[in-house]
Amino acid sequence: MEEGFRAFLGENALSIDLINIAPLDDLHQPTGVIEEAQRLAADAFGADYSMFSVQGTSCAIMCMVLSVCGPGDKIIVPRNLHKSILSAIIFAGAKPVFIIPERDTKWGIDHGISVRSVKNALERHPDAKAVLVINPTYFGVCANLKAIVDLAHRYGTPVLVDEAHGALLHFHDKLPLSAMQCGADMAATSMHKLGGSLTQSSLLHVKKGIVPITKVQTVFSMLTTTSTSYILLASLDAARKQLALHGRELSDKTIRLAEYARNKINQIPGLASFGREIVWTDAAFDFDPTKLTIHVRKLGITGYEAENWLRDHANIEVELSDMYNILCLITPGDSTETVDCLLNALAELAEAKYKPKSELRAIEVTLPEIPQLALTPRDAFYSDTEMFPFAESAGRIISEAIYVYPPGIPILLPGEVIAAPHIRYILQHLEVGLPIKGPADSTVRNVKVVVATKAIC
Ligand SMILES: Cc1ncc(COP(=O)(O)O)c(C=O)c1O
Repeated sequence: MEEGFRAFLGENALSIDLINIAPLDDLHQPTGVIEEAQRLAADAFGADYSMFSVQGTSCAIMCMVLSVCGPGDKIIVPRNLHKSILSAIIFAGAKPVFIIPERDTKWGIDHGISVRSVKNALERHPDAKAVLVINPTYFGVCANLKAIVDLAHRYGTPVLVDEAHGALLHFHDKLPLSAMQCGADMAATSMHKLGGSLTQSSLLHVKKGIVPITKVQTVFSMLTTTSTSYILLASLDAARKQLALHGRELSDKTIRLAEYARNKINQIPGLASFGREIVWTDAAFDFDPTKLTIHVRKLGITGYEAENWLRDHANIEVELSDMYNILCLITPGDSTETVDCLLNALAELAEAKYKPKSELRAIEVTLPEIPQLALTPRDAFYSDTEMFPFAESAGRIISEAIYVYPPGIPILLPGEVIAAPHIRYILQHLEVGLPIKGPADSTVRNVKVVVATKAIC
């Protein structure tokens, strides 16, 4: 290994950068230390079985979907899905039954899905192999997951939860219920985001019952590298220990810091950050207060401009930005000092940008309607395609995904019919510099569309 890098990493890190030699067990069929560590994780998170992912929550999500869906199977999913769910749907050849999440035009974000919308989907598609729920959303909003699980189980349908943003939920009663507390069948939980493990490490939890654990293990092994990183595995075990022993007090401190921050932000002219008042329907049934969505529209700037300003002037990196908001996460790693640093920077930002209402630049973006799905994502992905000018592509079926990253939620996904409002919406994002990703042509001047007209799925 290169000398400088070796010195930088240190001997301790290198001494555990090993592979699956016999005494270290094997993630693919654990019978020793990994099995024990996974059992302890299951105990800590209230699961019957937990698996360590060294390929992020994306891999855990793909495992959930591929464990229950095969070619042609239906899966009920919210349309504000993460790209890993879309990838799994393409790999499986599944047919997504989209549920439209509740849209909040005041804040310009999507919330969770309502119990009624899940009921309607299950009534129309009782043969669906699973219901997938994102809990909480990136912005900390939770659907009534317990009611959704109870409902789906009455149909014998398993519930899979994308819990990427919910590693702490299980450890504090002031946080929304975790997937396992709600009785969900599987959950993919990003330990690396909030739970204190290293980037790329994550957990997949399973409850006994509808989904056979042996199937999940087989799929998990199929998706996982044979050269598993013990640095990542060890960091998962250590993070599990920390949460099991101190999760409540760490969460308590985090919630208090976040409430302090929210309160102060709401006193800064031109800024606003929602709290529990966001909870008023069963699609916004509960709220994780550690997420700070900061609305900057009343400063006459986009979230992206605020993100860049904070980077350039205060060396602060936000979690994500969109047209109207920045999202900041308060985590167990924060302290009054780090939070005050953010608050001071936000106060300076507001002062630098604040203008009387009459001089404000209006930032008006309308979230387009959910596009029509004309082909399954897999059929569109594997169709004959051609490159076509994006600005003129209304009416064509797209065969690639276009999303803003982060958060990685597709605005258009393979199989959907492009309409003028989507073109406008994506161009508006490009104009202000928001990171539009996905298309093979990264300038998005051209997009890949399906050549032949295919039957509607
Ligand atoms: C809602 C959601 N699901 C899944 C993921 C994927 O997680 P990972 O980056 O660990 O693969 C993310 C990542 O940000 C996410 O926001």
